[in-house]
Amino acid sequence: MKIEFVSPSAAPPAKAALAFIVFEKEALSGDAASLSGAVEASRFTGGKGQVLDIVAPAGIAAARVLLVGAGPKDKLDLIGVEHAAASAYAAVKTSGLTGLLIRLDGATAEQAARAALGVTLASYRFDIYRTKEKPEKKPSVETVQIATAADAKAEWARQAAIAEGVKFTRDLVSEPPNVLFPAEFARRVKEKESLGLQVEILGEKEMEKLGMGSLLGVGQGSVRESQIAVIRWNGAADKDAQPIAFVGKGVCFDTGGISLKPPEGMEDMKWDMGGAGAVAGLMVALAGRKARVNAVGILGLVENMPDGAAQRPGDVVTSMSGQTIEIINTDAEGRLVLADAVWYCQERFKPKFIVDLATLTGAIIISLGNDYAGLFSNNDELSANLLAASDSTGEPLWRMPLPAAYDKNIDSMIADMKNTGGRPGGSITAALFIQRFVNGVPWAHLDIASTAWKKPSSVPTLPEGATGYGVRLLDQMVADKYEG
Ligand code: BES
Ligand code: MN
Ligand code: ZN
Repeated sequence: MKIEFVSPSAAPPAKAALAFIVFEKEALSGDAASLSGAVEASRFTGGKGQVLDIVAPAGIAAARVLLVGAGPKDKLDLIGVEHAAASAYAAVKTSGLTGLLIRLDGATAEQAARAALGVTLASYRFDIYRTKEKPEKKPSVETVQIATAADAKAEWARQAAIAEGVKFTRDLVSEPPNVLFPAEFARRVKEKESLGLQVEILGEKEMEKLGMGSLLGVGQGSVRESQIAVIRWNGAADKDAQPIAFVGKGVCFDTGGISLKPPEGMEDMKWDMGGAGAVAGLMVALAGRKARVNAVGILGLVENMPDGAAQRPGDVVTSMSGQTIEIINTDAEGRLVLADAVWYCQERFKPKFIVDLATLTGAIIISLGNDYAGLFSNNDELSANLLAASDSTGEPLWRMPLPAAYDKNIDSMIADMKNTGGRPGGSITAALFIQRFVNGVPWAHLDIASTAWKKPSSVPTLPEGATGYGVRLLDQMVADKYEG
């Protein structure tokens, strides 16, 4: 699908739909005025999410006209613009038409670019493994034109880079686990050096030298070698300036290990690398738009399998920090991966802050449902920056507590700590576990088990499946607060 910006007076091409954005309780005006009869014959009021699809309208040169509701005009924000444009696209995506022209006559450059972003995110599909799809099920719309008087080129270049990052994440998360194992994930990230990123891959030998017994224990039952990918983007004027850092849980498949998960829904655990996927997509976005910041992304890539060589409940491992961990449940593996990845990140890069992303706990879905990710942090300023970016990108985030009193739940009888803290507050004790590997640096943990995958989806910019949650949010925070 191609995006073009055209002038407000441009006529739609042949076999294209023409879309008008309509606000609640506002009369149709201009070129859309002749459609008031169609509106009267329907229940269309211009409310958010409504689309009135008018085939072969009389008096308008278009195969089809869409009236897209955007709610009250004074409440329209940029997310509303994205959603309206995405809904227009969804309405004609497989209609047989090949084009869509969205009229945004009075829009600003930013609104026009966000409309283009909305359509681009909505048009995502992961279809490389389909060989027999019927032609009538395939998307037919090839070109989407945004009609605006504003010059949206520069703003779109920036949004397009972010969209590329989201797409990279969605592709990684969608891939089946027989294809995307740790070394393949690392290889795909390495390919992104073409964007100006520097990528370093650590294998098990290097990790053993570093003493990463916590991460290595998770992968020891897998025939696939564990990896750490270190991605660097040095876009600041001073290439040696202190970087900001992001760490991702990359469990390419989580069977639970010896604490084996039940079969129902286990296929979902292919997206247990969604945190690492988001960090990888973020780094692609930062490089793509040449962000003026030094940033590091660390991916902890493993596969959690049951096997004769697998880690047992009862094992004690020694993490890179020197702290020992008693394994109670081999299915609480994400925190074991993060323990070493976060420590390594701090020791090596001394970053301004660390944000980790992880599909860490089923309990966060119980707490927050399927729209909000959980935010856990030792720092109010970093939290405020994340929450502000969440608002402006429409990736919902809710701050959760880190009560010191719960920390004793992960004390072990024989080691420094154990890897589970019991059922109550499961997302909190998981976060407290990671916090034991944070050594004075401002840190935030995003539990994205609730948001990395969406099925069903009612958000027009999120087709079912991999969402890419986190890429936009973190990119926005960097743009707002950390670029010099
Ligand atoms: N990867 C899972 C968490 C998860 C669950 C992600 C559902 C996405 C959807 C994680 O490794 C896990 O298994 N967590 C356990 C922790 C428990 C054993 C303490 C859980 O949430 O049940
Ligand atoms: Mn698990
Ligand atoms: Zn997991």
